[in-house]
Amino acid sequence: MRKPMVAGNWKMNKTVEQARELVAQLLPDLQAFHTVERVICPPFTALLPICAMLKGTDIGLGAQNIHWEASGAYTGEESAAMVKEFCQYVIIGHSERRAYFGETDESVNKKVRAACEAKLTSIVCIGETLAEFEAGRTEDVLTRQVIAGLGELTIEQAQGIVIAYEPVWAIGTGKAATGTGANEVIAKAIRSNLVKLFGNSISQQTRVLYGGSVTAENAAEFFGQPEIDGALVGGASLKIPGFLEIVRAAAK
Ligand code: 13P
Repeated sequence: MRKPMVAGNWKMNKTVEQARELVAQLLPDLQAFHTVERVICPPFTALLPICAMLKGTDIGLGAQNIHWEASGAYTGEESAAMVKEFCQYVIIGHSERRAYFGETDESVNKKVRAACEAKLTSIVCIGETLAEFEAGRTEDVLTRQVIAGLGELTIEQAQGIVIAYEPVWAIGTGKAATGTGANEVIAKAIRSNLVKLFGNSISQQTRVLYGGSVTAENAAEFFGQPEIDGALVGGASLKIPGFLEIVRAAAK
């Protein structure tokens, strides 16, 4: 019912030339997996050239951030409409942006609304830190992030949003969550809150990805879980055989 999705978050990696080379090598094989929604999220500088390379394919392009205002004196920022010129998707509220750039549930909420307005699909990132995990606060934290991050959206705006559950302790650490653990958290603390906000139908339609040290080796463990609809991949999305293997696992 929910189309699986695999998105590669390249973070702050690759010059234009390097990005072009990676996409050129990925494209022939990546194009084959039509049953999986495949998305590449390179840095801002590479969006235009990669957009040109993806033309005529069914592979999506995403930015890693937007500003919520439509225009104005916001040096160094890009609006949703600017991103929409090249992209169909945008990652919002990644834990690295929350940790290093002061993003909050409130700014996430504003950005998601701006993305809706521009008809960009938001990939909204949520997840607990190691301290929160160890203190048994995972459900509380995710509940707050879902309710505050997505609260007051209309049903129409909520439709099509993608959520990425990325436990902060699993990002870039090589210590992924377990498939069953992530599945349980998504059911208890994400889908249940989506039901509260938007009702059962939206909750069931919404794709929830897992992110955090996903590799070719562990991807199938996550994709085999009923509540997990794909992955937001960091480090492994920069490796050609690895990323293709993850997409292949999602296609099964
Ligand atoms: P890694 O896959 O490198 O752990 O990063 C996950 C992530 O942050 C994706 O957004």
